[in-house]
Amino acid sequence: MSENGSAGLEAYRARAEAWKLPIGSALDEILSGGVESGIITQIYGPPGVGKTNLCLLYTVSAVRRGKRAVFIDTEGGRSLERLMQIAGDDYERVMERAYFYEASTFEEQCFLVENIEQVMDENFGLVVLDSAVSLYRLDRDDDTASMLNRALSRQMAKLMAIARRFNLPVIITNQVYSAMNGSGAEPIAGDVLRYWSKAILEITRRGEVREVILRRHRSLPEGLRARFVITERGIADVE
Ligand SMILES: Nc1ncnc2c1ncn2[C@@H]1O[C@H](COP(=O)(O)OP(=O)(O)O)[C@@H](O)[C@H]1O
Ligand SMILES: [Mg+2]
Repeated sequence: MSENGSAGLEAYRARAEAWKLPIGSALDEILSGGVESGIITQIYGPPGVGKTNLCLLYTVSAVRRGKRAVFIDTEGGRSLERLMQIAGDDYERVMERAYFYEASTFEEQCFLVENIEQVMDENFGLVVLDSAVSLYRLDRDDDTASMLNRALSRQMAKLMAIARRFNLPVIITNQVYSAMNGSGAEPIAGDVLRYWSKAILEITRRGEVREVILRRHRSLPEGLRARFVITERGIADVE
């Protein structure tokens, strides 16, 4: 990381206290307060399960706490319609204080992640990459796989450095595929993304009820669960 000069060194500095970003849900409890600063949290699950909803909720929450946020959307920009419902009266403020970017190729995604620091300062309290793999997946075949894995790994290293430098939470979302060995839904680019994600949440769905399962955490037991439904204004806990 020496190519970043002092910013590169900054990433290694011992951190002030980590802090947590909550969204006012049972999900906060299984993360003992919320998504944590200084690390990447990965949220994975099938399409329509609620990953983007959670990313938008965290973005609104960051703005309501007086912070700015970066949201990189790789899935076609429809999140802003949903943001309007979730942010409600705060919509204008969220649009002003959260920077939404759209990538439509994996190359554009690389460019955004690589350069996003240039618009950021100490007022930022969240970076979202939703999703990390939808564009990666489009380009991937036997010939490109190792090159794309390296590029994805570089993006994760960059996001990790940003998480540390600005002491903020980074959230990435990931999709799943059905594993041939019958073990169920496996995250895409599992090894690369798992390596960089210090906290990992899986979301599953049965009917309208979504269940979040803690799959990795450095100080909490794996397997903690929280259930929610998606509502007009966001999410609501389910007993
Ligand atoms: N206003 C709303 N009320 C209830 N459910 C909604 C509303 N808006 C979106 N949803 C639900 O959100 C789900 C999509 O969630 P999303 O976070 O986009 O999934 P993912 O990002 O995991 O693919 C759909 O099941 C949709 O029905
Ligand atoms: Mg989504």
